[in-house]
Amino acid sequence: MPEDIILAIDTSCDDTSAAVVEGGRQIISSIVSGQNQVHERFGGIVPELASRRHLEIIADVVDEALRAASILLSSVSAIAVCKGPGLVGSLIVGTAFAKSLAYVHRLPFIGVNHLEGHICSAFLKEGQPPTLPFISLVVSGGHTSLYRVDGLGQYRELGRSRDDAAGEAYDKVAKMLGLGFPGGPAIDCLAKAGNAKAVPFPRAYMPHTLDFSFSGLKTSVRSYIANNTFAVEDICASFQAAVIDVLIRKIEWAIEKENIAAVALSGGVAANDALRERLGQLKGVKTYVPPKPLCTDNAAMIAAAAHAQFLKGEFDGFSLNPKAYLPVG
Ligand code: KG4
Ligand code: ZN
Repeated sequence: MPEDIILAIDTSCDDTSAAVVEGGRQIISSIVSGQNQVHERFGGIVPELASRRHLEIIADVVDEALRAASILLSSVSAIAVCKGPGLVGSLIVGTAFAKSLAYVHRLPFIGVNHLEGHICSAFLKEGQPPTLPFISLVVSGGHTSLYRVDGLGQYRELGRSRDDAAGEAYDKVAKMLGLGFPGGPAIDCLAKAGNAKAVPFPRAYMPHTLDFSFSGLKTSVRSYIANNTFAVEDICASFQAAVIDVLIRKIEWAIEKENIAAVALSGGVAANDALRERLGQLKGVKTYVPPKPLCTDNAAMIAAAAHAQFLKGEFDGFSLNPKAYLPVG
């Protein structure tokens, strides 16, 4: 039997992306158009500018995804779109465009939670996904959450950040250091030349919970920078070590609590070289980290999550309204 072919769109934040995926696993095409040039002079994402940029280029990005896949819309099984969480103005552009395509071509329409998309990047056929069940850490600019994954469509949240996401902390610290936006890749790079033990920044381990907190660390970096002379590389390395120590410790606790020795990482911060290396050092644990372009926002992961809904015939109506806040499940 031929597998389903899903055209997916993600405009949750500042990347306009479209992808064609077969059977929820095989990426036929994946196009991501970023907006760093639009936002970098503001040191962060300006929501209205993000929405306007999506509006300008979404048709071209979708066209390019179809062209790269050598496929016509008439051969697509369903249209999927990210319905949140994210920036509402940005989400509205993607959902309205996806609805129009589904409406005109009479195709099933599927709204997908962005976080489920990140979790499902582990199911894409780009490496060796972990065996089920596994622990999933979604660590991005908007979220830092741990899930237990029992299958496609079966997720349970184990913990989440009570304040800043790890990626948000990276971006804010980079802004304090004048490193531009987004800050994660710049800190990742500079940290390689720095001393991770130069400044003992605090680690919010918070025993007895799998929740996270990164706002204290951010404040501590701000105060250190204001009151000391320092090498930027050392601040980057010391800050990054504090973030990664907490992420790894919480993963270890989740493994212990759920008695599951398999872990998948996803989200933009999962592109971090030091985090990838530290995860790989966990003894007796099977780990899966997607290739970097599938860690940061992309529409292939949205198609992977939509596949589960497609198989169950769980389609959305055209009244679907995107949401800024949307829990998994
Ligand atoms: O998943 P993503 O593309 O978008 C959201 O859903 O938020 O993640 C973006 C975040 C940004 O905060 C960015 O600074 C961070 O991921 N990031 C990194 C790296 N690459 C991107 N953080 C640390 N190291 C990296 N190499
Ligand atoms: Zn994301």
